[in-house]
Amino acid sequence: MNILLTGGAGYIGSHTTVLLMQAGLHVCVLDNFCNSEQIVLERIARITGKPPSFVEADVCNTSVVADALKRYEVQAVIHFAGLKAVGGSVTQPINYYANNVQGTISLLQAMQSSGVKTLVFSSSATVYGNPQYLPIDESHPTSATNPYGRTKLHIEEMLTDVSRSDPAWRIACLRYFNPVGAHESGLIGENPRGVPNNLMPLVAQVASGLRPYVQVFGNDYSTSDGTGVRDYIHVMDLAEGHLAALQYLQKNVGWHGFNLGTGKGRSVLEMIRAFESASGQAVPFKVVPRRVGDVAACYAKANKACELLGWSAKRDLASMCESTWNFRINAKEQ
Ligand code: NAD
Ligand code: UFG
Repeated sequence: MNILLTGGAGYIGSHTTVLLMQAGLHVCVLDNFCNSEQIVLERIARITGKPPSFVEADVCNTSVVADALKRYEVQAVIHFAGLKAVGGSVTQPINYYANNVQGTISLLQAMQSSGVKTLVFSSSATVYGNPQYLPIDESHPTSATNPYGRTKLHIEEMLTDVSRSDPAWRIACLRYFNPVGAHESGLIGENPRGVPNNLMPLVAQVASGLRPYVQVFGNDYSTSDGTGVRDYIHVMDLAEGHLAALQYLQKNVGWHGFNLGTGKGRSVLEMIRAFESASGQAVPFKVVPRRVGDVAACYAKANKACELLGWSAKRDLASMCESTWNFRINAKEQ
């Protein structure tokens, strides 16, 4: 099977590329490197033994995307390409709508004109807005609390309309909770530019001495230890979720939304302690005021993916921390 991965050089896309190639699928990556680097493709080749096919392009360029779909005889697309920083979306909403929403429209036009009607979309738990109950199942009401989240919600709604318009479409929206960890090789992982926004890359940088301490955003939430609780999921489990979704879409038409999470909530302090034991390094932290827009707790009910996709997260917290640390050490040495 031939698959196009938009944003396949990014964090989640690169791990999925490896997994799909090792499962025997032919992968074509389309990326403009706005948040990734060419070297990732070389590292994928080191892991899998050969590079994926590659098109350097912006997903907003409909004719180039259509050309790639035809040239590589693509049967399904996984759409990772998008901007993902919540803060950036607040200061630059136009960029976010142009890249995420317009990018998806462009991709859909290219797919329609090429007769490719199977799509897996990178959605997010952010589409649930402020949790009204926990754990969050797929029936939880959707809403957005920032422009980034609104792009995901608009795209999901657009995809629902598209699937209603033509029963040949097969679309899965995968709502990721908090992806962390890295490939066991230590060759690919999450490598954010500048100061990381997310907890785990920051914890890894503090453990390696790049930054002095982690700022813990609030310890007065109504959670077990007062710090924020999230559903951290290993990126390789997430990658496996994409393969399971592709297999599901072979047999099922229409629009389908799935949570990809572990179903377990972990606090910030739990994450810091787990990282300390995985790395053998101290991770100093200071409690600072809550971050604006954060919720106390957010974790998934992941039963639907288990029942319909036959998928569940298998890797534990220690594996998430060890692989993150392994990648961090490797990245420093290379
Ligand atoms: P990432 O930034 O590492 O990867 C995105 C990739 O897409 C990058 O390689 C980037 O260069 C590319 N890209 C962006 N815009 C493009 C465009 N217009 N044309 C071509 N390529 C483009 O991000 P990630 O963490 O791998 O996330 C992948 C997807 O998953 C995103 O859509 C993101 O919103 C979604 N998601 C991520 C998280 C998370 O915490 N990492 C959580 C939920 C959802
Ligand atoms: N946190 C800190 N210090 C930091 C960074 C984070 O204490 O320096 C805390 C946060 O307050 C939160 C937890 O660590 O309690 C996780 O924060 P992240 O920024 O890593 O992740 P979020 O849950 O806030 O957001 C992530 C993605 C969003 C996505 C959301 C749901 O960044 O894009 O998960 O999928 F929408």
